[in-house]
Amino acid sequence: MDLVVNGVEHSLDLDPRTTLLDTLREHLGLTGSKKGCDHGQCGACTVLLDGRRVNSCLILAISQQGASVTTIEGVDHPVQQKFVEHDGFQCGYCTPGQICSAVGMLDEVAKGWPSAIGDEELTDAEIRERMSGNLCRCGAYPNMIPAIREAAGR
Ligand code: FES
Ligand code: FES
Repeated sequence: MDLVVNGVEHSLDLDPRTTLLDTLREHLGLTGSKKGCDHGQCGACTVLLDGRRVNSCLILAISQQGASVTTIEGVDHPVQQKFVEHDGFQCGYCTPGQICSAVGMLDEVAKGWPSAIGDEELTDAEIRERMSGNLCRCGAYPNMIPAIREAAGR
């Protein structure tokens, strides 16, 4: 199967049961995407699939023939600098997923996708709701919110 990852085309011969997360980590050596729960509950494995944020542990790679994947290794976005400035992480395990998710979320906002909780603007409550699929065991949320808020230009 063919998969484009961070702009590079890969031709892979995979067991059809291989998830996208395992493909990235075990077959392509891209270990930035993390395996937290492996059950779609923590968001540590978040990547952008054709521009939309997804939990890569829930997706079979074979079902994404020809798709374009962006992992944290391929992300170049102001939200990364803002995470550094605001100390938006502690151990860093959830951080690649948080950043990929924030990038996807800000793109959804830019496209005018409806509010999660009815706020007209990207309030802190709205950011929390839209990022609620990404858990942080260290509890670094108070620093992530201003990082994402500033990356959004607020
Ligand atoms: Fe995919 Fe937790 S590892 S959601
Ligand atoms: Fe440690 Fe989020 S920074 S889990």
